[in-house]
Amino acid sequence: MKALVYRRYGGPDVLELADVPDPRPGDREVLVRVRAASVNAADRVLLRGKPVLVRLGMGLSRPRHPILGFDVAGRVEAVGGQVMQLRVGDEVFGASKFGAFAEFVCVNEDTVVPRPTNVSFVEAAATPTAGYTALQGLHRGRIRAGQGVLIDGASGGVGTFAIQIARAYGADVTAVCSTRNVEIVSALGVSRVIDYRHEDFTRDGQQYDLILATNAYRPLSAYRRVLKPGGTYVMTGGGGVQILQAALLGALVSMTSRRRMGNLMAVARKPDLLVLKELLETGRIKPVIDRTVALSEVPAAIRYLEEEHARGKVVVSVQPDADVV
Ligand SMILES: NC(=O)c1ccc[n+]([C@@H]2O[C@H](COP(=O)([O-])OP(=O)(O)OC[C@H]3O[C@@H](n4cnc5c(N)ncnc54)[C@H](OP(=O)(O)O)[C@@H]3O)[C@@H](O)[C@H]2O)c1
Repeated sequence: MKALVYRRYGGPDVLELADVPDPRPGDREVLVRVRAASVNAADRVLLRGKPVLVRLGMGLSRPRHPILGFDVAGRVEAVGGQVMQLRVGDEVFGASKFGAFAEFVCVNEDTVVPRPTNVSFVEAAATPTAGYTALQGLHRGRIRAGQGVLIDGASGGVGTFAIQIARAYGADVTAVCSTRNVEIVSALGVSRVIDYRHEDFTRDGQQYDLILATNAYRPLSAYRRVLKPGGTYVMTGGGGVQILQAALLGALVSMTSRRRMGNLMAVARKPDLLVLKELLETGRIKPVIDRTVALSEVPAAIRYLEEEHARGKVVVSVQPDADVV
């Protein structure tokens, strides 16, 4: 099969389109013919092997898994001996451990679910990682109707899903993004958009029950200032300082005050994928697609994501017509 391979850590230029053997499903895996995949921030981290700590798990001198890509939508072509819930011919979407930037990928049956038939493979592939990260972040903050939710970094992959999921729960959503994304974010039904280039939400006197910082660019103390007593701050991504602050100071704040603050490490789980499936089916979430690229264009797409200004998701169309419902 054709796959996008990297044999050493580095920038997007180390990725090359190559012919490699088709993968074979393990006992609990299904072999999926990939119609579409999507690009996540994790792909760029694993590609570069930076921060170097990631190499402890991924291979010290060179990557142990030479094909990147987590999110996938496609058709089941073969099933492992112990697969109970899926059959050859099923159309699915979900999250693989690695390997989705290829024509075929093996995925554990616990991290893949039937594709909603009202969305295209492109939209389905856009959803898993960003969607379950948003969902788990909001669940951590006990999302419920009427809650005041602030989403910082609202216009990227995680943010655009977080807005829509919070709205589906009946929350009152304030979104923070840059000037050029105000329109896109407004269209998702938020109560208020704050353009961080012109306004500082940490100084306007408003407080929130739940803050989801998809990309935290501010000190923890600034988020704490706008978090109501009894509220929760969840950070999914951000700079190294912010990650450390959320882990260490966040634990301290959580122990010594009525506010909970900390990081989220999201995990692909079937129940969450089924929630996303239902939200897609009922039209309560609709993936925001920044652009769709071919497999050979993934290096450029990763370079684009490294700028940290994507508008929704970048999707990889691996087979023709992946955008047709
Ligand atoms: N913890 C986990 O398990 C987990 C899972 C998935 C993702 N993540 C992390 O979550 C983060 C977000 O992922 P993503 O897929 O949403 O990334 P993305 O699609 O690349 O989105 C980046 C977003 O950051 C915003 N941004 C850039 N500078 C900003 C600033 N100064 N203030 C506020 N927002 C700013 C951009 O909005 P503008 O263009 O409008 O500035 C853009 O919408 C990444 O760091 C990723 O590594 C973590």
